[in-house]
Amino acid sequence: MKPKSISEIREIFLNYFKDKSHSFVPSSSLLPAGDPTLLFTTAGMVQFKPFFTGAVELPYTRATSCQKCLRTNDLEIVGRSERHCTFFEMLGNFSFGDYFKEEAIEYALDCSVNHLGFDKEKIWVTVYTDDDEAEKIWLDKGIPKERITRLGKKDNFWGPAGDSGACGPCSELYLDRGVEKGGPDCATSGTCKPGCDCDRFLEFWNIVFNQFNQDTEGNLHPLKQTGIDTGSGLERVGLLLQGVDSVYDTDELRKIISFFEELSGIQYSSENNVAFRVVTDHIRSVLFSIGDGIYPDRTGRGYVIRRLIRRASLFGRKLNFREPFLYKLVDKVIGIYQVRYPELAKNSASLKKTILAEEELFLKTLELGLEKIEVLVQKTKASGKNIFSGADAFLLYGTYGFPAEMTEEIVAEHDLSFDKKGFQEELENDRQFSRESWKVHKVSLMTGLDVEKTEFLGYSSIFEKGNITHLFYDNKPTSVLKEGQKGAVALNKTPFYPEGGGQVGDTGFLRFGKNVFKVLDTQKENDVIIHFGEVLNGEFSTGQELEAEVEPLRRERLRFHHSGTHLLNGALRNLLGDHVLQKGSVVSPEYLRFDFSHPSALTHEEIRKIESWVNESIRKDFAVETKELAIDEAKKTGAVATFGEKYGDKVRVVQMGDASVEFCGGTHVTHTGEIGYFFIKKESSPGAGNRRIEGVCGPAVIETFQNRFAELTEAVQNLNLKIKSELGDEGKNLWITSEIPGPTEIREKLEKEGASAVTFFRDLSETIALKIEENTSLFLKAKKSFESRDFENNSSVIESVFASAIQTSAGKILSATFEDKDPSSLKGLSDNLKVREKNLLVILGSKSSESASVVITCSPELTSKGIHCGNLVKAACTTLGGKGGGKPDMAQGGGKEIQNLDSAIISAVNEAKQILSGERV
Ligand code: SER
Repeated sequence: MKPKSISEIREIFLNYFKDKSHSFVPSSSLLPAGDPTLLFTTAGMVQFKPFFTGAVELPYTRATSCQKCLRTNDLEIVGRSERHCTFFEMLGNFSFGDYFKEEAIEYALDCSVNHLGFDKEKIWVTVYTDDDEAEKIWLDKGIPKERITRLGKKDNFWGPAGDSGACGPCSELYLDRGVEKGGPDCATSGTCKPGCDCDRFLEFWNIVFNQFNQDTEGNLHPLKQTGIDTGSGLERVGLLLQGVDSVYDTDELRKIISFFEELSGIQYSSENNVAFRVVTDHIRSVLFSIGDGIYPDRTGRGYVIRRLIRRASLFGRKLNFREPFLYKLVDKVIGIYQVRYPELAKNSASLKKTILAEEELFLKTLELGLEKIEVLVQKTKASGKNIFSGADAFLLYGTYGFPAEMTEEIVAEHDLSFDKKGFQEELENDRQFSRESWKVHKVSLMTGLDVEKTEFLGYSSIFEKGNITHLFYDNKPTSVLKEGQKGAVALNKTPFYPEGGGQVGDTGFLRFGKNVFKVLDTQKENDVIIHFGEVLNGEFSTGQELEAEVEPLRRERLRFHHSGTHLLNGALRNLLGDHVLQKGSVVSPEYLRFDFSHPSALTHEEIRKIESWVNESIRKDFAVETKELAIDEAKKTGAVATFGEKYGDKVRVVQMGDASVEFCGGTHVTHTGEIGYFFIKKESSPGAGNRRIEGVCGPAVIETFQNRFAELTEAVQNLNLKIKSELGDEGKNLWITSEIPGPTEIREKLEKEGASAVTFFRDLSETIALKIEENTSLFLKAKKSFESRDFENNSSVIESVFASAIQTSAGKILSATFEDKDPSSLKGLSDNLKVREKNLLVILGSKSSESASVVITCSPELTSKGIHCGNLVKAACTTLGGKGGGKPDMAQGGGKEIQNLDSAIISAVNEAKQILSGERV
C-alpha cells in the first residue's frame, strides 16, 4: 500500500476528530494573539490558552486543529538531527472542561491505530510518575504493563506555553522502530525504553492533562475545569508512516530539498544533508513568519527571523550559494502550502522582496566575517585557550552581523566553547557607549580644508558610484583608512542622505572590490556629505572610486515617515489653523515625531480628525512632486518653511497634491499611497507652549496595533479571571466578552482596507481600554461589597465579638476593633449582633493606614437607661482628633489619630459601663 502523504495524514486526523464532534479551528498566526510574553506560537494549544484557564466564554468545548508552530530553542541541532524542525505543523485535539483522560487516551489509540495505521503492538506509552489513573486506562485499552513507562517532570509534565497558563502531567505515545535503531548498548541491555536518548523509540503524540494554571511567579493553581491538550507533530507522524529516515525525507519537505538540488546543481547526500536540511527548514520558518507579518529586525521576534535567514545563508555557502538564493524559491515553496495556507500566496511579492533584502544585507559581510572568525579562532588556539571570547564574538556581531548563536555554532566546529556571559557584557557596554558616541560626529572635520562639495544623488537612487575626496581617522584628515579603523569618508557624489530636516542619516556600505566600509551614520558639513563607520575589510585611500549602497528597507521606512510628516503638518495647518509652525521633527525608520506651536493640548476628537485627514490624503494617492526653485519663486508657491531653518538661494519644494507643499531636502515616496497608513501613538507637550505628536507610518502601524491588541487581550483575560475567582458567577455581568482582533485579522484588514481601517482599530482599541477601566472599577466596588457582606455575616466574627461581652445590670456591652472596614460594614455587623439578643450596646472601631472610625449602636431599650450613642461617639472622636455624633441609638464618627483607637474604644466602654451599672445618670 502506498504510504500516506502529509496531506492525507492531516485530513485523516482532522476528519477523525470532526466525527467525534470537535469543531475544526483554523491555525492561528505564528504571532500569539494575547500573549506578549510568548515570542511565537509554539504549540497547538496557544490559541486556546484562555479557553483552558476560563478567561473567556467558551464557543465550543471540543476542538481540533492543525497549527503552524515555530520553536527555535534547539536551533543548533536543527539540520543535524533527523526529527527537529524550527517550523512544524502540529495536529491537535482539545477538550475544555469536556472529556478528560479516559476519552483522550481512547481517541489517541483509536485514531493512530485504526485510522492512521500505526501498529498497536509497536506502540509504547509514558505516563507521569504518579499517574496511576492514566496507567490503568492504558492497561484497560490493551497496552501491556511492560510497554508503559513512568517518567518525571522533565518528560511528562507539559507547559505552560509562555510564562503563565494551563499546564499539567502528560502521557505520550511512542513508536518502537526496532532494536536496530537503538544505541550500541540498547539491543543487548534490554533496558532501552522511551526516555532513552537513542533513536529506537520516537514520540509521535502527546496528551497533556491540563489540571493547573501556572501564575507568572511559577505557582500552580488547580484549574476549576480540567482540559485536554493534544499535540502530534505532522512531520514526525509522516516520518513514521512513510518509513523514511528523517522528517526531511517526508514527501513535502523532500520536495523542498529537490528545489534546492535543482537550484544548486548539487545532489542531496549523506555528506551534505545537514546543509540541505537547514535551508529547507529555515525557508519554511522564514516564509511563514514573514507571511504572518513578523519582519526581520534588530531585536525581539524580528531578530529570531534575521538569525534564521543568516543561518540559512551560512549553510547555503556549503551548497555553493554565494548570492541570495532563498528568495528564488519563495513561489515554489508557497506552491506546496497555499492550499492549506492561502495567505502565503497573497503575500508572495512582498515575501520575496523582504527575504532578498535581508539576504543581501548579510551576504555583504558574511564572507568577511568568516575570514575574520578564522583568524580569531587561530588566535584563540595559539594562546592555548579553548574558549572563544565574548569580545571576539561581539566584534563579529557588531561589525559583521554574526548572531552570537551562529558564532557559537561555528567555533564549536573548531572544538571551542563560547563565553556567553562575556558576550552579554560586551553588548551591554556597547549600548551604554553608543548612546554617547553619536556626539563625536558633531565635531567639525572640514574646518580649514580645501572643500569639494558633494553631489547628492539619493533622491532617485540608492546605489551610485563616487570618489573619495577626504578620509578621517580620529577626527583628523588622513590619506588611508585601514581595516578595523573607525573613521569617516567624504565622497564627491553619493546616494547617502545626510541627517537633516529631522530625517536621520542613511546607513549602508561603501565598497571597492573586496574593500568594505560599513556606514553607520551620514552627516553633512559645509555641503560635504560625510559617511561615518568602520573599515570591515581592506583599506581605503583618497581619490579611489567606490560603490555606495544605501540600506534599502531602512530607507523605505524613512521615506514613509518623512512623507507622513509632511501630511501631518498639512493636517495640522488645515484643521488647527495657520498658527501651527513646525518647531522640531524627528524622522526615523521606526517612527516620526513632530513638535509644533499650538497653545493647548489636542482633544481626542482633534487627534482623531488629524489622523483621518492624513489617512485620507494617503488614500488619495497624490503624486509627490519636487521642484528646485529660486527662493523668491519658491515663496510664491505658498510652501511652508520650517521656522528657524536657513535656506540658500535655491530651495527644493515638495508638493503632495493640495495636501502639502513644503521646503524640504528630505527623501520621499513618489505617491502618498505608498505610505499605506498613519497612526498617532501619542500627543504630549515638549514644553514652552508647544505640542508634540508621535506617530508611525506603513508596516509600523500594523505592528503597533498588533502589540496594542495583544496587551488588551491579556488585560481582558486577566480581569475576567480575577472577577471569576473573586466573585464567582455573581460577577458574570462584569466579564468583558468583546471580540478582540488577532494579529492576522489586524494585518489583513489594514492591507485590504488601507488607511480607513486605522480609525476602526483606533476606536476599537479605545473602546476596549475604556471598558477595561470601567469594569475594573466596578469589579473593585463589587469586591468590596462582597467582602463587607462576608464580614458582616461571618459567624466567627460574630462569636468573637460576643466573647468580649461585659455584663452590666441593664445589658451587655460588646466591643471590638478591626482593620480596613468602612463604617457601613461596622453598622452591618452591629445590626447582625443586635438581632441575636436584646439589651445590647455595640461599640466598634476600625482603622486603616490613614484614619480610624467608630460606630456605636444600641438596642432601643438601653436609651431609656441613659445611653446616648451620639455622646459616646463624640467623646471617642475627640480622642481620635476628629469629629462625630448622631442619635441616641446610633452614631458614627472618626479621626486621623489612628494610634488612639484602642484607648478611645476602652474609654467609651468604661463610660457606658458606669451608665448601665447605674453609677452614673
Ligand atoms: N502542548 C503539548 C505539546 O506541545 C501538546 O499539544 O507537546
